[in-house]
Order: sequence, then C-alpha cells, then structure tokens
Amino acid sequence: MSDHKGFVLWFTGLSGAGKSTLARALENEFRKRKFKVEVLDGDEVRTNLSKGLGFSKEDRDTNIRRIGYVANLLGRNGVISITAAISPYRQIRDEVRAMCMGRFVEVFAKCTIEELTRRDVKGLYKKALAGEIKNFTGISDPYEEPENPEVTIDSGTQSIEESTQVILQFLESKGLIASAAATA
Ligand code: ADX
Repeated sequence: MSDHKGFVLWFTGLSGAGKSTLARALENEFRKRKFKVEVLDGDEVRTNLSKGLGFSKEDRDTNIRRIGYVANLLGRNGVISITAAISPYRQIRDEVRAMCMGRFVEVFAKCTIEELTRRDVKGLYKKALAGEIKNFTGISDPYEEPENPEVTIDSGTQSIEESTQVILQFLESKGLIASAAATA
C-alpha cells in the first residue's frame, strides 16, 4: 500500500493567518516522509498562473478556479496538493470541493482581525485601514468563513507545530496518509 493518497489540502483564511507558513511546514513534513507533494501558494500563483488578475470578486473567483483546477489534477494523480490562497468566497470553495470528488480537505486558518492588524507582517492592514488599498479582505472586502471545514486551526493561540500536528492527525485518522510510526 502507498504511504499516502492523492488529495487536496485547501487552506482558507485571511491574509497573514498562517496559510503559507503551514502549507510549507506540511510540505517539509511530507517531503521528509518521501510523499509526493506540491504547493500552490496564492502569492506565487499570482506571479504566473494568475498573472494580471486583481482582487475584484470576478478576478478572485478566476484565481481560485484556476488553483482548484490544477490542485484537482494533481490530487487525482496521487499527489498531495496543498493550496494557500485566501479563497474568500464559500461558493467557489464548495465548487472546487465538488470537483475534487471526496479528495478535498478544507483547513480554516482562523485569526481575528485585531490580531492580524497587530502583527501586520506585510504592513498591508495598516494601508488597508488607511484606505490606501481598496477591497482588502477582512477590512473592506468580504471573507466568508467555512461552515463545515474538516479542520480549523487558530493561529492566534496555536503554534505552527501544534497546528501542523492537528492537521497530520486528521489526515492519519481519515487514512489519507499513513501514520508517522508506520512509515518510519
Ligand atoms: S484570493 O482572494 O484570490 O484568494 P490570494 O490568496 O491569491 O487572494 O492573494 C492574497 C494576497 O495578495 C494577500 O496575502 C496579500 O499579500 C495580497 N493582496 C494585495 N491586495 C489585496 C487585497 N485587496 N485583498 C487581499 N489580499 C491582497
């Protein structure tokens, strides 16, 4: 039996909530275990696959559909594909979920706007609050929280290591990856 199945690990959450960091932490963990894995990161995708797209609802939907399309191709061919885009609209996330036909794990990276504004790693919240960036998710543009995500992690209170473990345990419990002990 293979040590893992192909599936899409779909992070959603506000900018700065830890999606990319967690995606990379899991990627490292999977590579250590010799699993097949790819990461589709929002910021990176926007420099190639989605170059030229902005942040209107229409452009975000196009971006997410593209990411979903590629993630599904990988997932159905035995790869663990991890995505890390805000993906603010529930309907499009659910559309991708349906396309992935059972191979879709939604992880909600939860963090309050207060905490994100306090951290403001990229300095974008300050600019958004000052009106210098229009349609900024969570400030002047919608973010629709998932209603039934497979996993929720709270990046305001959990460490990266804790969150990573919670996700790994979920994947093991569903038989999507073999347990670390079994693959060691
Ligand atoms: S999504 O809405 O289409 O899923 P995506 O994850 O690709 O967004 O890009 C979000 C990143 O773009 C943010 O982390 C931030 O660095 C940058 N960004 C620039 N403008 C905006 C904006 N108006 N709203 C949200 N993020 C923005």
